[in-house]
Amino acid sequence: MTIVLAPMEGLLDFVLRDVLTRIGGIDRCVSEFIRITNQLLPERVFTRIVPELHNGGRTAAGVPVRAQLLGSDPVCLAENAARLASLGPEGIDLNFGCPAQIVNRHGGGAALLDHPEALYAIVAAVRRAVPAGMPVSAKMRLGTRDDSLAIDCALALAAGGADELAVHARTKAQGYRPPAYWGRIADIRAAVAIPVIANGEIWTVGDALACRAQSGCQDLMLGRGMVADPGLALAVKAQGLNAVHGSRADLDALQWEALHPALVYFWGVVCSRLDARSRPGRLKQWLNFLRRRFPPAQVAYDTLKTVDDPAAIEAWIDGLRQGDRPSAAKTAVKQGFFQPVGARCAYSGFALRKLESFVVP
Ligand SMILES: Cc1cc2nc3c(=O)[nH]c(=O)nc-3n(C[C@H](O)[C@H](O)[C@H](O)COP(=O)(O)O)c2cc1C
Repeated sequence: MTIVLAPMEGLLDFVLRDVLTRIGGIDRCVSEFIRITNQLLPERVFTRIVPELHNGGRTAAGVPVRAQLLGSDPVCLAENAARLASLGPEGIDLNFGCPAQIVNRHGGGAALLDHPEALYAIVAAVRRAVPAGMPVSAKMRLGTRDDSLAIDCALALAAGGADELAVHARTKAQGYRPPAYWGRIADIRAAVAIPVIANGEIWTVGDALACRAQSGCQDLMLGRGMVADPGLALAVKAQGLNAVHGSRADLDALQWEALHPALVYFWGVVCSRLDARSRPGRLKQWLNFLRRRFPPAQVAYDTLKTVDDPAAIEAWIDGLRQGDRPSAAKTAVKQGFFQPVGARCAYSGFALRKLESFVVP
């Protein structure tokens, strides 16, 4: 099973990619979109959004990052893809799912799903512009207003030369409202010969199992679920190997404690890479997701939500820092969340090592 970390503009940037891939379970990332309009972007734009390009196209934990482009002009996209390819990403992904007004008004993102022939032209042009060995993948929704063109779109993307297709199982009109229609991914899978990755509304191990059963896909793309529960990819993989877990209630407390080093590390990277004004917002943004999964994160969120004084935030982080990190990580392993469950699986040592590797830069 391959688990891909979803692209999420404004949320899942290089900082969270670094943190989440250190925790583990993620096989590949897709960067947030790089918007292409009518010019060839300078290299610095690609490396600003995907700084992993300075690290062989990988996060610090060694997980490959595919860079995503968004646009509607095949010629301009191809030129930019060629430049991007020269910087050595693991692959190039094309966004055909963004519902944002501004993007759609210019004919990009999900708006293209009304025009399968345009999808074909874009993928074919990018495929031709990129070295043969470099994967070109696509990410689509089921359609704009309805899903009647979903299979035509998938066929067009495959015919254009996409090596792989991630499907967010909702139309643009459905936005982010549950449910996601995983069964429709099965129809797409049956129609195309390329690997299909299922995406949308996977928040728990149970969701992952249901999504795999309904879509027939081995491989999953996880977005908000990973931000809310950074242990989700590991838990999904462990479940795939018939893990026997303790109750989720036990795991809640356990994981929150084990996450402290990750939060401290996150704050360290935020402070070293982002300007002072945007730092508190970044921490609160993550806590806002974490509180969905961890009751103590709700308390932290309530405490910090009106705080913008960096010193007060630093004091809260200090509280986490003073916790007993190695022992928190060992407890996490001992109590079973990261336990190895099959002879071939060694999450426990792995997870412990990863958690202990969170040091403030
Ligand atoms: C804040 C946010 C930003 C997103 N940015 C992108 C993006 O840059 N490129 C893209 O293809 N999809 C983007 N998406 C869609 C996600 O990749 C994913 O398809 C969607 O969130 C459904 O998956 P999930 O339920 O696991 O979150 C974004 C979603 C959110 C919520």
